[in-house]
Amino acid sequence: MTRSWAEGAVLYQVYPRAFADGDGDGIGDLPGVTARLDHLAGPPDSLGVDAIWLSPFYPHGGVDGGYDVTDFTGVAPEYGTLADVDRLLAASHGRGVRVLLDLITGHTSDRHPWFAAARTSRANASRDWYLWADPRPGPAPPTNWVAAFGGPAWTLDPGSGQFFHHSFYPEQPDLNWRSAAVREEMAKAMRFWLDRGVDGFRADAIEFLIKDRRLRDNPPAGPPLLPWSAEPGGLRRRWTRNQPGLAGVFRHLRRVTDEYPDRILLGELYAPARQVAAALGGARADGLHLGLDHQLAKSAWDARAFRRAIAAAERHLAPPLSPTWAFSNHDLSRHATRWGTERARLAALILLTLRGTVCLYQGEEIGMTDVAPAPDARADRPGADRAGRDPARGPFDWDEAARQRSDHESLLALYRGLIDLRRRSPALRHGSLSLLRGLPPGVLGYERLLGAERLTVLANMGHRRSVVRLPSGQPDVLLSATDLNQVHPAGGKVELDADHGVVIG
Ligand code: NOJ
Ligand code: MG
Repeated sequence: MTRSWAEGAVLYQVYPRAFADGDGDGIGDLPGVTARLDHLAGPPDSLGVDAIWLSPFYPHGGVDGGYDVTDFTGVAPEYGTLADVDRLLAASHGRGVRVLLDLITGHTSDRHPWFAAARTSRANASRDWYLWADPRPGPAPPTNWVAAFGGPAWTLDPGSGQFFHHSFYPEQPDLNWRSAAVREEMAKAMRFWLDRGVDGFRADAIEFLIKDRRLRDNPPAGPPLLPWSAEPGGLRRRWTRNQPGLAGVFRHLRRVTDEYPDRILLGELYAPARQVAAALGGARADGLHLGLDHQLAKSAWDARAFRRAIAAAERHLAPPLSPTWAFSNHDLSRHATRWGTERARLAALILLTLRGTVCLYQGEEIGMTDVAPAPDARADRPGADRAGRDPARGPFDWDEAARQRSDHESLLALYRGLIDLRRRSPALRHGSLSLLRGLPPGVLGYERLLGAERLTVLANMGHRRSVVRLPSGQPDVLLSATDLNQVHPAGGKVELDADHGVVIG
């Protein structure tokens, strides 16, 4: 079986608005990304990533950081032009870096011409490209469904007297994926970019594409099992997420992608590993190629919790499937803020030694933390239960990156070293992962194995210095460490301070 280039690869998420400004208008743009490619790949002191995922640069309605698209095949003027996309693709491919675009399948902006047409009348030909329903007596929304950012997931369209459904902001009406026309239109948009040479897509909010046909009310969530599993409004998304029919949509998207050689689909999921596996098509592996697993991003800094999430991925995403890990993205508080800057080095060592694909978020490699945006400059509207996402979208700190580039003990140097190790080591990139047992409390450990190559990763996530015995027969060559000056395995064991870790092989 041939393995996709993305398996085991290191992806890098670029949020164009905050990455690099090429034209001096104060807003990051596509020429800015092209001009900064040296940071990502090419020269020996670059990070050495395999691919970039570009968050949306399409024309948009201005309410959801570009995720409210008004034209799926255009470029918003502040980000550049189609020619700038072509130049970015050529420059990236020229240095062996693939490029994924964001594919926003679930909804359009309410200013998209499709929606403008659909809302003109109940008889409009594109009416059923969206989800409409009559009010309940009251008049009240058709169901109790709650939008991800708070408030009802339905908004009344006064012209037609019907409500339209939106999983996110009211300005983002959900598309109806049971409509053949919607599937075909989205396929056209995909081919438009695939023809231009993009290497695939990160498919947005893919769990929500199909909703219950019978419009049943969601049940109460009950006490959350884990703090983050509470759904907005205290409801379980029983009828709005992960519905039957989704697998068919994924197979459709997969077929379109597979019309082109070597392209991939990476789905955005916030689901447990079992559901990620289902999205990949289970044993048939005919769904999405990859699904972002956010279980670690949502986890506390706790060795047992990490162990559980990794074990679940090993159980449900065993080969030929594989997990995709990220600790940060444009929607979450940055992990250096969540877990603490003193843990950024160990977090990097864990992330870049896991089995599967790894997705970095711009700025984590230089230890960026959340920023406090001026209240009057707020771009993201806070939801009912959230403070808004601007803090994770602060401008990339190029001065700091330049300083770290010439410092061989910097966090950037550690990322570079780990990515290089991952590239050179078949066991790290493609080998199996087995969790080690019997380690001191607070220590996470696993072995990566392929053929005769065997690596051991040990990470002290606890608060105390710990002495860890190496697995028997493990050579004690230090391949990477959070602190190369201090940590040295010897005599079959290694002493690790809190927040320190090693890769031994
Ligand atoms: C997920 C995106 O990552 C997020 O930024 C966006 O708000 C929602 N999908 C809605 O498109
Ligand atoms: Mg600009």
